[in-house]
Amino acid sequence: MFQNLSPAAVDSILSVAEAFRADGRTHKLDLGVGVYRDAAGNTPVMAAVREAEQQLAAHQPSKSYVGLAGNLRFNRCVEQLVLGQEADASAWVTIQTPGASGALRLVADLIAASRRHAKVWISDPSYVNHAPIMQAAGLAVERYPYLDVATGTLRREAFLEAVAGLGQDDVLLLHGCCHNPSGLDLTLADWQAIATMAQAQGFLPFVDMAYQGFGDGLEQDAAGLRVLAAACPEMLLVYSCSKHFGLYRERTGAAMVKSAQPALVRGKLFELARRSYTMPPDHGAEIVAMIMASDDLRANWQAELEAMRLRMLASRDKLATALAQRGLAADYLRQHKGMFSMLPLSDAAIARLRDEFAIYLVAGGRINLAGLDESRIDELADAVAQVSQV
Ligand code: LMR
Repeated sequence: MFQNLSPAAVDSILSVAEAFRADGRTHKLDLGVGVYRDAAGNTPVMAAVREAEQQLAAHQPSKSYVGLAGNLRFNRCVEQLVLGQEADASAWVTIQTPGASGALRLVADLIAASRRHAKVWISDPSYVNHAPIMQAAGLAVERYPYLDVATGTLRREAFLEAVAGLGQDDVLLLHGCCHNPSGLDLTLADWQAIATMAQAQGFLPFVDMAYQGFGDGLEQDAAGLRVLAAACPEMLLVYSCSKHFGLYRERTGAAMVKSAQPALVRGKLFELARRSYTMPPDHGAEIVAMIMASDDLRANWQAELEAMRLRMLASRDKLATALAQRGLAADYLRQHKGMFSMLPLSDAAIARLRDEFAIYLVAGGRINLAGLDESRIDELADAVAQVSQV
């Protein structure tokens, strides 16, 4: 049966995690997979999550099935988080999914079911799983210019020129905030320009929001996508609670679709979900719903999230200073948002960091600043300076 299988593609993030686990060196440093780590190197369960879990364990009345849309209270929370507390979400269909990866696949299947020849445009570079998920649904993928690796800045002119060329068969996939892998975000003026072009040209905006609250704050991070949501009659959105609720393994995400045919869209999403995973896991979604429904838990969660955000900002600043002290210009680290930035390193330099210094980065030079403790910043800067010498 399986003799004709081709070897599996290597995932550049998960393979780094695996190689790191297998490395026996005690001083190894993991800047690969996107998880937040505290000063002790642990990825803690957030205090509000812990408290909600205890309440849930004590009081959950049943483990019976939820419906195809998942946890409805969670879906409403996601709408309020992403669109704003007072926003009118009546034009949106929201369904809970197994993580944002599940949402990406569901939405890709929805696009393919509606317009098989649609082309999905992703940033160059983009999250490593964007293209494979879109292609697995049978969609064509193209890349638009985004990051100038040498300067860490947006290739604005080329980017806007590419968007200006999109039409009704095109889907423009954008990162809501804290761009993965570069940390380079669009300005509000960029979002406004995209909204104007989407209205005039008819392409479909699609936003992946996985790091709300890790950039400038919960509300500020959603400001750009809210410009699109207000202006565009149709839009796609996928949402993750892995990072800002620390619910990674609970696979807690959502797919949102704004359209003039909500009943048709809802029915098709249900059909697609039924055919693959049927219903999403409820645990993480119920935790989020409980936190958002309690003033105390919500305040506690927001305070912890803000502390995480400030710690990442401090790491950015300290690494930029440490690199500058070693003659490497890295002010872009201070301009970027969230967990990730890319160091402009060659493949050979990244391999040397791994082999000689036990420092693990994702191919392309992505580092997870949320995995970097202050006590190791000088060590990282020294190693980067050494491998950067030609
Ligand atoms: C990452 O980019 O490291 C995370 O989003 C983990 C993943 O699923 O790829």
